[in-house]
Amino acid sequence: MAEKTITLTDNSNGKSTELSLMGGTEGPEVMDISSLYRDMGIFTYDPGFVATASCHSSITYIDGDEGILRYRGYPIEQLARQSNFLEVAYLLLYGELPTMNQCEEFQDIIRYHTMIKETLKSFFDGFHYDAHPMGIMVGVVGSLSAFYHDSLDIHDPRHREISAHRMIAKMPTIAAASFKHNIGEPFIYPRNDLDYCANFLHMMFATPCEDYEPDPVAVKAMNLLFILHADHEQNASTSTVRLSGSSQANPFACIAAGIASLWGPAHGGANEAVLNMLQEIGDVSQIDKYLAKAKDKDDSFRLMGFGHRVYKNFDPRATIIREVCHEVLENLADNNNPLFELALRLEEVALEDDYFVERKLYPNVDFYSGIIYRALGIPNNMFTVMFAIARTVGWVAHWMEMMSDPQQRIGRPRQIYTGASERDYIPMADR
Ligand code: SDX
Repeated sequence: MAEKTITLTDNSNGKSTELSLMGGTEGPEVMDISSLYRDMGIFTYDPGFVATASCHSSITYIDGDEGILRYRGYPIEQLARQSNFLEVAYLLLYGELPTMNQCEEFQDIIRYHTMIKETLKSFFDGFHYDAHPMGIMVGVVGSLSAFYHDSLDIHDPRHREISAHRMIAKMPTIAAASFKHNIGEPFIYPRNDLDYCANFLHMMFATPCEDYEPDPVAVKAMNLLFILHADHEQNASTSTVRLSGSSQANPFACIAAGIASLWGPAHGGANEAVLNMLQEIGDVSQIDKYLAKAKDKDDSFRLMGFGHRVYKNFDPRATIIREVCHEVLENLADNNNPLFELALRLEEVALEDDYFVERKLYPNVDFYSGIIYRALGIPNNMFTVMFAIARTVGWVAHWMEMMSDPQQRIGRPRQIYTGASERDYIPMADR
């Protein structure tokens, strides 16, 4: 089939160039502008990269208008209901659902790497007890780059794979230790007889004084939430990991950069901000007042958990989480019911409001997730840490995909320069 091209002509000087149109398995066609500067001497401009493809990827597909999310072609709705987090992690890393043997081997590998170096425990002592756990995560995960000299060659696929396994395995251990540091309790070591989510809940809530068995309802909810948060194409934190990794930096340092980006309230930090917002709104009688604030351009308040750069329809993850809220709240402590009822009413009122309807602002993955985390006994400031544990799988999958691409180059965007033109230095005496 003949190559599809777009002809670009500069009417001011008649210069023109042919730009080829590329297509993937699904999604919009992409215009290859890599020859534009050479042929026409011009850059492109797309602040926030709203319509810019940064790479080829076969990991996750999103259709924002149709509310579609698929991991390696499998619809998120099917994975959420039929799979478990480590199976989804295998799928995202290797591209195919594992056989029973592959699944058991992968679980054993991850289980083998759950402990952290004993010396790493002292890093937590450097943080004040009330340090935000995401700040601790950025520091401690970044410090992993100073260990593991047995797998530092990022050009060796086996070294890359070991680093990916270590990162996935150690995130829950470091996350639980951050929580224990906040509450002044001793760290709990991983248990190899528990699966990934049960082990995490055990490290979070067990104490040396008594046995703790994770509630199966909580384990099931944790698996589902981790599956839903595992990957999401080229979002801000994943793009941060890719850009950091493009300079061939240490993978653990790249994941720390991803954690830092995820922390922002415009991104993964929104789940904590939603619960803080619901607690501030307090009661359904205050909904109209806060919706007015969200619509007021002179007010910095935004309806946290609403809106999305890609989804201009329901975020399929939000729909699933809202359904699970009912199940979890009925089976676990339902001290969150007032907040859940408030969230449901807030969504209902917002989606009847022209401001939100015209801008296609729907609940996103962060709007309901905190309701479930609280029902599991997880405090607000740990919600984004939950997101980071799950998204580590996506981050390392994209890092591995990028580093195994023979065409991989360092990422280096350009700019529109708006500063001063050339001028001469002025001696201090003449200023
Ligand atoms: C995540 O990219 C991903 O995939 C991210 C994520 C993932 O899995 O990795 O899905 C996870 O980060 C979800 C998003 C969590 N963030 C929030 O819930 C924070 C609240 N949402 C907004 O800050 C905002 O909607 C963003 C950041 C999510 C999207 O920002 P955009 O795409 O830059 O949209 P915008 O700011 O240009 O908004 C368009 C219009 C503006 O109004 P106008 O200037 O057109 O009049 O919608 C308004 C905005 O003011 N708007 C909101 C709003 N979100 C957008 N107004 C009030 N409340 C909001 N939440």
